[in-house]
Order: sequence, then C-alpha cells, then structure tokens
Amino acid sequence: MRSPIQVAPLLKSQIKNMLIKRIAILGGTGFVGQSLCNQLSQAGYALKVLTRNREYNRDNLILLPNLDLVQTNIHDADKLKQHLADCDAVINLVGILNEKGRNGVGFKHAHVELAEKIMAACEANNINRILQLSALNADAINGKSYYLRTKGEAEDLLHANNADIHVTSFRPSVIFGEKDSFFNRFAYLLKRSPFFFPLACHATKFAPVYVLDLVHMMIRSLNDPGSYDQRFQLCGPKTYTLAALVDFTATVMGIKRNIIPLNDVVSRAQAAIFDFVPGKPFSTDNYLSAKSDSVCECNILARYAIHPQAIESIVPQYLTHHSYRSRYTEYRRKSHLAPSHDRQYP
Ligand SMILES: NC(=O)c1ccc[n+]([C@@H]2O[C@H](COP(=O)([O-])OP(=O)(O)OC[C@H]3O[C@@H](n4cnc5c(N)ncnc54)[C@H](OP(=O)(O)O)[C@@H]3O)[C@@H](O)[C@H]2O)c1
Repeated sequence: MRSPIQVAPLLKSQIKNMLIKRIAILGGTGFVGQSLCNQLSQAGYALKVLTRNREYNRDNLILLPNLDLVQTNIHDADKLKQHLADCDAVINLVGILNEKGRNGVGFKHAHVELAEKIMAACEANNINRILQLSALNADAINGKSYYLRTKGEAEDLLHANNADIHVTSFRPSVIFGEKDSFFNRFAYLLKRSPFFFPLACHATKFAPVYVLDLVHMMIRSLNDPGSYDQRFQLCGPKTYTLAALVDFTATVMGIKRNIIPLNDVVSRAQAAIFDFVPGKPFSTDNYLSAKSDSVCECNILARYAIHPQAIESIVPQYLTHHSYRSRYTEYRRKSHLAPSHDRQYP
C-alpha cells in the first residue's frame, strides 16, 4: 500500500562524491526511523538497521533496497562494536518516553549508557560521523524530567568526544507524520471518549515538525561539514497550545468533543494514577516533560532549503485516510460486498 503522501526523494546527485556509504541505524524501525530509512535507501545509501526483534519489524523495512535488518542486543557493547565494523556513520534514533520503574534507571540505560557504547564502538571502528536524534528542552542539568535530563546527558556525552568524531544533534518539537504517536493517539482517544475530553497540560505550546522535513534535514547534514558538532533545534512553521492541537484533531476526525482543561494539580494527580496503569498512557515523567513549552525561535530548516510543512496540510491526509478506509468496509458490509469473514451476521 502506497503512502498517501508522496515526497520527491533526494537526488542521487546530492550525494555524489560522498564518503559515507554504509550507515548503521539504531532505532530505525520506529516512526522516524521508517521514514529515514526510506529516504536514505532512495538516496542510494546502504543501511544496517539494528533491532531487538527482526520478525516483528520486518514488514516495515525488509522491502527497501540496500537495507540489512539485523536482530541484536545493541546494549551489548561487544556486539555493537562488531555490527558497526563495516559502517561509515551511525544514526541513533533510540528513545523511550517511559521506563518500567520510576527512578530514571531505564531512561539512563536507553539514552546515556547507549550513547557511551555508541561512542566506544565508533572509536574502535574509526567511524567519525554520528547523527543523534534528541529532543527540544533536553538538558542534562535543568531538564524537567528523566526523559529530558537523560536525552541531554546523551547529547553532551557524544559532543564531548576527544576522538575527532563529528556529531550533529537534532532537537525537534513534537514530530508528526502518517505513523506518529501524537495525532494518531489523540484521534484514538477522542473517538473513545464520550462527549468530553479531560486534558492535562492543556496550555503547553508545541510547534509540530513534519517527519519528512526532519528526515531530509538529517540526510542533507550527513555530509555537510557546517553541521559538524552542531545541535539543531527544529520546529514547524506554527505554534499551538496542546488544547488547540487536540481540538484540531477532533475537527479533522469530524467529531465534536468538549475539551476540559485540567489544572496543574489535577494534571499531576492524573499522571500519578496513570503511572500504575499498564503501558503508562500518561506518566509523571511525561507530565514533567510537558510542563515546558516545546517551541524554539530559529528556523534551521531554511539552512537546507526545506520549507517546513504545517499540520493543516498533512495531518488530514492520514487521519481521514484511516477513517475513509474503515468507512469503505462499513459501506461494503451494508451492500453485502464484504468478504464473508468481514460480514456481521445476527
Ligand atoms: N516522535 C516524536 O514526536 C519525537 C519528538 C522529539 C524527539 N523524538 C525522539 O526521536 C527519536 C525517534 O522517535 P520515534 O517517535 O521514531 O520513536 P519510536 O517510534 O518509539 O522508535 C524508537 C525505536 O527505538 C528502539 N528502542 C526503543 N526502546 C529501546 C530500548 N530500550 N533499547 C533499544 N532500542 C530501543 C525501537 O527499535 P526496536 O524495537 O527495533 O529495537 C524503536 O523502533 C527518539 O529518540 C525520540 O526521543 C521523538
């Protein structure tokens, strides 16, 4: 099935004379990773995507040319070194929004300790290029949550290397695109909420950035010495409160919900309760991250001649695309055209 959003691939001529040929990607199976792998593959790079579960992720990536999907434990320093031996660059997209416990150990493991192992593996294999996907407000000292502090610590650790490894960090606001976990999640929750929708941290501001804008910027920076050792903040063209984004989602879905803004005390209490709900739909750490606006002044996308896309022109294409498909099934069912397994009998 083709994506409803078609974007011109980077031209092969744009990577002419490149020294980087084979790239190891960690976290390449996720939302950003799938877009990035797609674009890198179209641009002619050879890719090695390291995953914890090849079988689970194979459908999303296996058809891309020049891509090896390798199951391994990237937290095993020796294995990581071995896997990077035939690569010229590393892109680290690994990130978690929640940990199993509540003391920050899981965040440190997934973000900081992994960055240490990546650095050691790059040094051992003479790899001198790393792209790191971080987050706006990441700050080792002043970050408000474990997520933001450990993301900041990982960035600092990579940029402080003494091995002539050129690191570029990307610090986006919330990222949107067909498989995002932001608009899709709110769409899912809105559909299941009758009449009203209680919303924590409703006044926090975000400037959503389109996943393909981010991905194109990452690819163009790969061979750009001007991006070496830089930390780029990335925002979309417009700023919205969280309440406005949820309201926009409901409008796109064609449903009417009263959004009930929760005050700070209730937002925190809601997060404390959800800490104990399986899957942590909204944890205390998420609440602490969402206390700061996720916006920035600069428009670094312009540096790479990327005109940032706004949510209004992209999000309806994929949110309504899903609902159209489910509506077709309903139409087929009513007209008795649905296959037998798809029909409902009294
Ligand atoms: N999405 C956003 O709005 C947003 C905003 C700002 C920053 N970011 C950052 O952007 C990066 C990519 O985000 P995303 O939305 O694409 O995330 P995602 O869909 O959750 O994908 C992350 C990938 O990382 C790997 N991973 C997760 N936990 C891991 C662990 N404990 N150990 C090893 N690998 C693990 C997984 O790969 P396998 O399962 O194949 O191993 C997963 O596919 C993250 O670092 C995130 O912090 C995202």
